[in-house]
Amino acid sequence: MATQEETFKKMVAHCKEYGFVFPSSDIYDGLGAVYDYGQNGVELKNNIKRYWWEAMTRVHENIVGIDAAIFMHPTTWKASGHVDAFNDPLIDNRDSKKRYRADVLIEDQIAKYDEKIEKEIAKAAKRFGDSFDAELFRQTNPRVQEHVQKREALHTRYSEAMNANDLNELKQIILDEGIVCPISGTKNWTDVRQFNLMFSTEMGSTSDGSMKIYLRPETAQGIFVNFLNVQKTGRMKIPFGIAQIGKAFRNEIVARQFVFRMREFEQMEMQFFVRPGEEMEWFKYWKEHRLSWHKALGLGDEKYRYHDHEKLAHYANAATDIEFQMPFGFKEVEGIHSRTNFDLSQHAKYSGKKIEYFDPELNKSYTPYVIETSIGVDRMFLSIMCSAYKEETLENGETRVVLSLPPVLAPTKVCVMPLVKKDGLPEKAEEVMQLLKYDFRCAYDEKDSIGKRYRRQDAVGTPFCVTIDHDTLTDNCVTVRYRDTMAQERIAISELPALIGKAVDMKELLRKLA
Ligand code: GAP
Repeated sequence: MATQEETFKKMVAHCKEYGFVFPSSDIYDGLGAVYDYGQNGVELKNNIKRYWWEAMTRVHENIVGIDAAIFMHPTTWKASGHVDAFNDPLIDNRDSKKRYRADVLIEDQIAKYDEKIEKEIAKAAKRFGDSFDAELFRQTNPRVQEHVQKREALHTRYSEAMNANDLNELKQIILDEGIVCPISGTKNWTDVRQFNLMFSTEMGSTSDGSMKIYLRPETAQGIFVNFLNVQKTGRMKIPFGIAQIGKAFRNEIVARQFVFRMREFEQMEMQFFVRPGEEMEWFKYWKEHRLSWHKALGLGDEKYRYHDHEKLAHYANAATDIEFQMPFGFKEVEGIHSRTNFDLSQHAKYSGKKIEYFDPELNKSYTPYVIETSIGVDRMFLSIMCSAYKEETLENGETRVVLSLPPVLAPTKVCVMPLVKKDGLPEKAEEVMQLLKYDFRCAYDEKDSIGKRYRRQDAVGTPFCVTIDHDTLTDNCVTVRYRDTMAQERIAISELPALIGKAVDMKELLRKLA
């Protein structure tokens, strides 16, 4: 049985082999943590984006969308705090010359204690069989307790150091825990330094010189600076939201796990503007609502959990992550943040413009508070791929790789296949294509055996295959083959649009959220 790590590696290779994700500039051996989406990847990604966009701007009548530029006036980033505080603590190993995030090294060490605890419990469970009480064992076994205490002490020390931005203490923790560089195996560490994650470039070529500008590290600021534009031109009344999907850029120190941590990625963010004092109520609402959005896809409710933040970003008074169970552990896919009135107040201060809302019900003006939901498209893509990728052994001993993608997100909904390339079957298949292709993304395949063609579609997650055989010419029926069960049934061609339509209809999904 393959380990999760091996399966993950195979899934990454599968993404390249089947046109989902390629390394950027592949012919030049790629560019670190930058990826291109291929012909299937872009369809899946677009479907994810559509699901999010419709869930925001259609299900909620008080949410509208915008598309702001990536380049913004540089003062934006001074006001937002990113120039001064958008940093990661980095540390170098002098022997391997490798650079790490100090916080990640310590978090990995905490995870090691967790693994030790789980290993002890798993060992004991094997020994004691059915009568085993894991919770009691966790609380009473001296060896487990020793690991728990060490873990808790490290966690407390780490949280305090992060909250106080104490870089010396972070280094001391790394030394005290005996953390070594995974490459050199040594503890020859430099001091911990702050590293700003924003990419910068130059704009303009005037004689006075050019202006240093940044590639946005989050899409949110494009929404904040447009608050008045949208509120006034859309006559929006609080509470209301502004949604946006777009690229963001971060010079990540440690980029790893495929598209999980990239230097160029895409975010789907929504800022929901509320009355001061009502933010916690709305924070709770969005926390629950966003989890329902994820769960509605049917990847498995047990694969999600919340992680409430202890260390809050400079702008937040509450924050939680929605984590998904990736093959490398539960990881953040989405953040829900109560950002107070920080951003709007800062932009008012730095721009000298009054950024307030006149509330006709309260008959007064105020700076709205903001609840933000922020999800990475690429992380969402990864979570879906990780849960969809399966290697199955069939009853006849053969194996198949299948992507059990939610049909609504699958790149191709149906593949039309004439049994043979003659006898008028391709012409009949073309008729079926004409019937379906304006409603659904269809593929056409007439090469190789039907079995091989099924495997090709399984590998890219196509939920339906439709075979045209000689009988079709007289009875106008086709064989529909279902991806997940591999069951086949014969139905009339005229029934195909309704059958496929029902399975891939996004409306059904959106209704669940209402
Ligand atoms: N505006 C708030 C904000 O940007 P964040 O927690 O830094 O908050 C939000 O990012 C989401 O963006 C994350 O939950 C993640 O899904 C995605 N994200 C952040 N950095 C990323 C990276 N380097 N690569 C891919 N996705 C990333």
